[in-house]
Formats: sequence, structure tokens, C-alpha cells
Amino acid sequence: MRRKKFLKIAGIGTGVLAFSPWLTSCITDNRVRSGTFSNKLPLPNEIRETAFELTASHADVKLTEELHLSGLQFNESIPGPTIRQNRGDDLNIRFKNEIGQDSIIHWHGLIVPPEMDGHPRDVISSGTYEYQFGLNQRAGTYWYHPHPHHITGEQVYKGLSGFFIIEDDEEKALNLPDGQYEIPLVIQDRRVNDSGEIVFNPSMPEQMMTGLLGDLILVNGMPSPYQEVEAGVYRLRILNGSNARIYNISFQDEVPFTVIGTDGGLLPEPIETSELLMAPGERADILVDFSKADSSSIQLISKPFEVPSGGGMMGMQNMMGSDGPEQGAGFSLMEFRIEGESQRNSIALPDQLSEANFPEATSADQTRPIQLDMQMMAGHTINGRQFEMERVDERVKQGDTEIWEFINNSNVPHPMHVHAVQFKVLERSGNRGLIPTETGWKDTVLVMPGETVRVIMKFDAPKGLYVFHCHNLEHEDNGMMANLEIV
Ligand code: C2O
Ligand code: CU
Ligand code: CU
Repeated sequence: MRRKKFLKIAGIGTGVLAFSPWLTSCITDNRVRSGTFSNKLPLPNEIRETAFELTASHADVKLTEELHLSGLQFNESIPGPTIRQNRGDDLNIRFKNEIGQDSIIHWHGLIVPPEMDGHPRDVISSGTYEYQFGLNQRAGTYWYHPHPHHITGEQVYKGLSGFFIIEDDEEKALNLPDGQYEIPLVIQDRRVNDSGEIVFNPSMPEQMMTGLLGDLILVNGMPSPYQEVEAGVYRLRILNGSNARIYNISFQDEVPFTVIGTDGGLLPEPIETSELLMAPGERADILVDFSKADSSSIQLISKPFEVPSGGGMMGMQNMMGSDGPEQGAGFSLMEFRIEGESQRNSIALPDQLSEANFPEATSADQTRPIQLDMQMMAGHTINGRQFEMERVDERVKQGDTEIWEFINNSNVPHPMHVHAVQFKVLERSGNRGLIPTETGWKDTVLVMPGETVRVIMKFDAPKGLYVFHCHNLEHEDNGMMANLEIV
């Protein structure tokens, strides 16, 4: 295989030994051995206007000397521009589809009327789709991406996704790091062929089992990136925008960081940790103090983690594994180069970051079991079925509070995402417990093989048809999605 200058990741497996011929950077004993981060981290442009266009078109991008992407872009940018708005704003967004394929945009985490939500039945093959909605929800790190049935994975993989940040007064009062001290990071794994082209061609077993696991990490669309920072406190808004890969976010040398927010905005209280599991679709808002690093360079890494094998078809995942390092492998993501003192060298956080107002478990009108299975012929199913465009799978009364029990009977992880709500994770079976991000409002929750995860949510969104699905995009495209009607 041709040697390339960018870093392909090579994992140390969690179980089965993952041998890799292109080992250039890896972690042993949770320490990063080597790594050359030579590309400046790109920061997407911001859109602050409340009326704007998002045009999806073809892109031909030379990322580095060796690396080339024939992909898709929003407003000539991969990732797409960061939309930054205030709570209470009324938006007018014109989506222009110039990719020659069905598409529609979904605003992941936003609670908007059904016809504004990017339901797959609203795809357009060309022309424009007009979005009009108000932002009546908590400040937070949301995101947007296409949602056409069967081809969401391909379109996201090729470059169509971006941040959607909402700000509000509650958050501004905390005086969190902003401007150059606030950095959005979208992490996505990709696969490159021998001519240095990023390609989307998951194999059959990948589509059926693991989802597409790549061997090249892009942060904000760039391989092997570095970012210059001062020795002070930064706010990192991290999005796992990958199709299938889960990351165990950490810093080199176990440098601690503080989790302040997640999918639906600020946590009730800040939580210090040194690692954080993030599945596709999930966001983490963290504060890190780079003056705590031992040297002038520190890497953001994904630490190895265990994927429980769950029930049935043991070992299938490894047997039918993909080309990339397996799920759970460790590797480095990017480098922070620390230079100079910072004005922002400390931050005083209140004990309470935000008013959570989670619904009480006892207030639930009903409990709904959601069975997640892998069936030999049918593929991934929700309650035994695969997605059908017009069939209503779950009917929920507007204003009701419900507990949903996601029961993973398969042996692959499923990050379950529900449109039109934010929920609170109540409990998880087994011994993993809840992780720091799960103390806040969520819209996506990781259900590992064999686990049952209970979440509570109140359905206050406008009546109509929405979806919920697994956010492993290969699973979703394979039909692991269902219609949810609010009546
Ligand atoms: Cu981020 Cu229905 O998806
Ligand atoms: Cu969503
Ligand atoms: Cu899944």
C-alpha cells in the first residue's frame, strides 16, 4: 500500500487483536505513541442572519497534497457553515438542492413543526424547499444534515452536515469562553482509496452490521489537524458526526476536562471527567484548561473502550468486520499546540449551570417498549419492522409524557435518536450507568448490545408526522427507523 503523509488510524482492538498494516499512530496503555498533525484546523464560516440560503452542491476538494474528496457541500463548505442564532429568532431558510439526488434537511435536536423537520417523505429532487420556524428552545449545540431515506449515510459522509448553535440569556450570563476561545469540532471517520480519494462504498456486512467504520479521522473536514491555543480555558463544542463510529473522547495524559453541556444545552451541573463516550449524533460541550497540559502540545484522542457483545450471534461483529479499525479501537484525533499565556486562564462556574426541569418519572402517561433487533434476512428492525414511509408506528398524544424503553437485543450498538423532543435518560441496565452527558437534555442515546435504556420525554411539538431512528446511518438507511405521529 502506498505510504501517505496523513495519519490513518490504527487501533488496538478491544478483544480480538486488530492488526493493521498502516499503523502510523496508535495508543498503547492509553498513551499516544506518535502522530504528526500538520494541517491547520479549519473553522467553518458562521451564518448569523435569520434569512439565508443553504445550497447543497457537488464539491471537488483537495484537502491536502495527497488527499482528495469528490463530495457534497453546503454553501461551498465542508462541513457546512455554522448557523448561530438566538433563542426566540424566527428563521427563513431556503434549501436549494443541486446534487441531482433526493434530499431534505433535518435540524437535529430542534423542535419544529413536522413539515419543517426534514421528514424523508418531504425530499426534493431539485429546486428549493422553504423552511420557516421559530427557535423556542434552550441554547445548545444542535446540527443539521440531510435526511432522505436510504441515502442519508452517503450524503452526510460526502460532506453535508453543519453545526446549528442556539444562544440565550441564561447561557450568556455564565460568561463562558467565546470568540476564539470557543471552538466547534465535528469528528468524522472516513475511508480513502489508494489514489487518495475519500470514497463511500460500505460493504454488505458493513451496511448490515457495524456501519461504515473508516480509518482516517477528519476534524472539521480536515485530516491530521492541529489548532493553536493559549494556555487557558477553552470551550469545545464536540459533535460526533460520523456514520457509525463511537469515540471515547479524552486528552493525552488524562488531562481532565469539564462537561458543561450536551445535545439539549447546558447540564444542570458541571461534571469533571477524563473521558466521555460519544456515539454518532451526540454532542458534548466541554471546558478544558490547556495550562494543565504537561507540554506545549496535547492530543485529543479516542481511548479504547469495550463494546459488550450482547446476545445472539456472538462474534459476528468481528467475523463480518469492516476494513477500518473495529469499534472500540483507540487512536488520536487532533493536536492542540499551546503557546503563550491567556487572559482566559480560569473560569468560575456556578454550582448550577441551568434550570433543567426534567419531568418526574411518576408523571409518565405510559411506558413504551422499543425492541431493537437484528434479523438475519430483514436487517435491523425497530419493534420487528423496518421503515415504511407512510405507516405510523407509534402514536403519541400531544402533551403526554412518556417513558420509552430502548431494548437492544442485537450485538451491535444503536445510538437511538427521537425527533421533535429532548429527553432525559432515566436509567440504563447493566453496569455502565449514566455518563456525564446523560445528566442533561438529550436527543440521542447510546444503547449498547444487551442494554435497556429508559428515557422520559414530553411531547409538546406540533401535531403531525416525525421519525425516530438509530443514528448509525447505515442502520438508519437499512430501515432502522420508524414513524412517530403526535396526535
Ligand atoms: Cu440527526 Cu433523524 O437525525
Ligand atoms: Cu434529529
Ligand atoms: Cu443501529
